Amino acid sequence: MPTIDDPEVQAAGALARARCVGVLTGAGISAESGIPTFRQSMEGLWATFDPETLATPAAFARDPALVSRWYDERRRGCLAAVPNAGHRALARLERELDARSGSLTILTQNVDGLHQRAGSQRVVELHGSITVWRCTRTGAEYRDLEQPLREYPRRSDAGGLLRPGVVWFGEALPPEALAAADRLATTCDTFLSIGTSAAVYPAAGFVSLASAHGATTIEVNRDPTPLSTAVTWSIRGCAGEVLPRLVERAFGAEVPSSGTRSSHGT
Ligand code: OAD
Repeated sequence: MPTIDDPEVQAAGALARARCVGVLTGAGISAESGIPTFRQSMEGLWATFDPETLATPAAFARDPALVSRWYDERRRGCLAAVPNAGHRALARLERELDARSGSLTILTQNVDGLHQRAGSQRVVELHGSITVWRCTRTGAEYRDLEQPLREYPRRSDAGGLLRPGVVWFGEALPPEALAAADRLATTCDTFLSIGTSAAVYPAAGFVSLASAHGATTIEVNRDPTPLSTAVTWSIRGCAGEVLPRLVERAFGAEVPSSGTRSSHGT
């Protein structure tokens, strides 16, 4: 039986009272959908490569065919994956807050698009999207290219090389995504950090920023992180199990209605 000082009970109480919620997610929330983390994706044919030699502008300049092929394999893995109970619980939390004139925004470090496919509407992609390719000549974006790509490297209609629409090591985060994250962290009343090692800045700093502006902070992670002792409530467990429990404790069992947005995932 959970007690009153159980962090899950406390966190659910905070969510039930919340009006403006910010959420930072990382690779951990997609682990239960079978998406490998950055390092785990270096398997098989790719085992001899260091990720930092594939995920940099210099790597693409040196060998665009190799880098494109690697990202194309990861893109197909993400498109074949399905959102899990953790993604779905956050989509439901957004609906519950919307229904109470509140709001929830997700800042994700993931490039897999699973939050959107679970039904989340307000998602800021801090590290871009693996389904987007961008022309290095014109900047034009391509979202629904053939799978697999017909050539490596793939050329755009303008004849430029297409690069993956993700943020590489050494590149800045999109300024509009950073500005949105900053606004959220300084105005929300509740901030959740889910499945992220909280090691990569600036994303890792959003939790401290929210805390400094008075938000209740909640961490959900399978393992301890540098944030675990700094947040208001730290919950140790898998996102796909903890998040549905938290949302149900805060809002009760979901009553399906015709107005409920459904997942358009596969
Ligand atoms: P990491 O791989 O660094 O951390 C994943 C976190 O999720 C770890 O703390 C795990 O303990 C936790 N975890 C694993 N499975 C979980 C589960 N089922 N439920 C809850 N937690 C779980 O991933 P990120 O923090 O997302 O950057 O890493 C951030 C960025 O660093 C990535 O986007 C990438 C990387 O290098 C770029 O590509 C620029």
